[in-house]
Amino acid sequence: MISDYGKSGFAEILPDSPLCSTFVVCDALMPTSHASLPFTVVPLTPADAVAVSRLEERCFPSFWSEEQYAKELQSPYLAGWGAFVEQDGRKVLAGYIACSHVADMWEIVNIAVDPTWRNRGIASRLLEAALQDARKKHSISCSLEVRRGNRLARALYARAGFVQAGIRKNYYAETGEDALVLVLDLSASPTP
Ligand SMILES: CC(C)(COP(=O)(O)OP(=O)(O)OC[C@H]1O[C@@H](n2cnc3c(N)ncnc32)[C@H](O)[C@@H]1OP(=O)(O)O)[C@@H](O)C(=O)NCCC(=O)NCCS
Repeated sequence: MISDYGKSGFAEILPDSPLCSTFVVCDALMPTSHASLPFTVVPLTPADAVAVSRLEERCFPSFWSEEQYAKELQSPYLAGWGAFVEQDGRKVLAGYIACSHVADMWEIVNIAVDPTWRNRGIASRLLEAALQDARKKHSISCSLEVRRGNRLARALYARAGFVQAGIRKNYYAETGEDALVLVLDLSASPTP
């Protein structure tokens, strides 16, 4: 998901959060073209399964059910983070990232931000939280598949330092679109 990655340098990372070292509070002093939006990034739990499944349904042609997420979010091989905004006194899921990891290899399974809250740095922060955790666990690489035509997602990954490692032709059944396989070498220096 980047050269100007993390340009929301006003995010404050709270290393002593009881939830996780990647708890992030953003009180974004956005560029004028982007509205300010405070949001928190915290690890997902099975209790978030309904919200994640509904958000995924709004963002993708196919999606995991809440039952699948409830199960997967208990798996030691799936790590997820959610970005929450406050609305009418309630915490609402604005975006999420889900990653699978086996041994020292990570894969980004999905990342999505509700259309209402895009272009505010939420996906960048979610990606950063996942990559920080992967590095903390001494993982060596992170990979993903992205539709060739998904310009926004490709820009996000490019800013984070992902490079193209391959192409899966006609990968997406419903459109026949190619998937690009992108990889990030986690043993290299973290993205600035
Ligand atoms: C791709 C997607 C996750 C991006 O989410 P997002 O939260 O809008 O992404 P970000 O806000 O971090 O970055 C998007 C843009 O906002 C900019 N931006 C605005 N305010 C920002 C801030 N405060 N901090 C950082 N970036 C900011 C970024 O620079 C970027 O601009 P650019 O694309 O012109 O370089 C979102 O479009 C989405 O959910 N798409 C549908 C699902 C999808 O395709 N997922 C990917 C599957 S591989």
